[in-house]
Amino acid sequence: MLRIGLLTSGGDCQALNAAMRGVVKTLYNRLGDVEIYGFEEGYKGLIYGKYRLLANWEFSGILTKGGTILGSSRQPFKLMRVPDENGLDKVEAMKQTYHKLCLDCLVILGGNGTHKTANLLSEEGLNVVTLPKTIDNDIWGTDMTFGFQSAVNIATDAIDCIHTTAASHGRVFIVEVMGHKVGWLTLHAGIAGGADIILLPEIPYDIKKVADAIDRREKAGKRFTILAVAEGAISKEDAALSKKEFKEKQKRSKYPSISYELADRIKELTGQEIRITVPGHTQRGGSPCPYDRVISTRFGAAAADLILKKDYGYMVGIINGEITKVPLSEVAGKLKMIDPDCSIIKEAKNVGISFGD
Ligand code: F6P
Repeated sequence: MLRIGLLTSGGDCQALNAAMRGVVKTLYNRLGDVEIYGFEEGYKGLIYGKYRLLANWEFSGILTKGGTILGSSRQPFKLMRVPDENGLDKVEAMKQTYHKLCLDCLVILGGNGTHKTANLLSEEGLNVVTLPKTIDNDIWGTDMTFGFQSAVNIATDAIDCIHTTAASHGRVFIVEVMGHKVGWLTLHAGIAGGADIILLPEIPYDIKKVADAIDRREKAGKRFTILAVAEGAISKEDAALSKKEFKEKQKRSKYPSISYELADRIKELTGQEIRITVPGHTQRGGSPCPYDRVISTRFGAAAADLILKKDYGYMVGIINGEITKVPLSEVAGKLKMIDPDCSIIKEAKNVGISFGD
């Protein structure tokens, strides 16, 4: 009997359940029977032996369900080798749970941090297959992660709603989109929502250029300006600071997030009235969009295929529309960031979007 461990780790997103369903349905359909152990709250369940045997029926009716039936938590990779408060060696504990249950493979659904630990477990001799989840779409080795398109829909809806009220009142509106390190979500939602200015972590902005773009719109008779701003958007001055100096500055800052600082600076320079909207975790919530249901089902089925072939140590991904497998050692520790010179940025600039650079 094949024995599989399943866990979802890191920040949740849409289609985690759909992806697990894809794995399990494929294994049941191809093998007839299989034992599935679900670990609770990500790596925590594997470390502390919190798991349950999942029945086949538990994977029915979850294709459209948001969140994760297993729960999730963030377990930072940098602390994995650091014993917990009771002196427990977490990596050894995870290996022990795996061997105690005589698992054939661990299927891990997660983002960047999760992949570093998945690679570590693979290097430690465990059979691991992973699936790329995150609304940030920043996992190296795949064109797309599940969760991303659903989040783009939600962030775009937020910008669409702002558009109608912005047109009535003639103000400057900032919509803060998730993404601390990368701006894919902001870029796509910004273009889809018709934002006038998009600020991304990968393209540090010059506040004067942002203000100029707003002034230009006003002079052209436009009554409002909408900015789509990534959580990790950064000014040119701040980008020039060392990591340590920037962290210190953030600690001292009176602003809850970048949008509030930006709003103050824009007000100083343009005198305009500014409003801020932060959709926050709504972007990770709710039912997956059809695209995410399809891609996560494909990823799940492909992961099951790797397990049946005993082809371990890979992340399933998609490149140019084709399902692929990428060695975990290549994925771990890399971020898929936006190249400021890439074609989507050029196209966005061609239609008049300012990136404040
Ligand atoms: O990585 C997904 C993500 O939603 C980011 O876009 C965001 O910056 C972060 O997680 C928020 O994390 P948390 O849910 O821990 O506040």
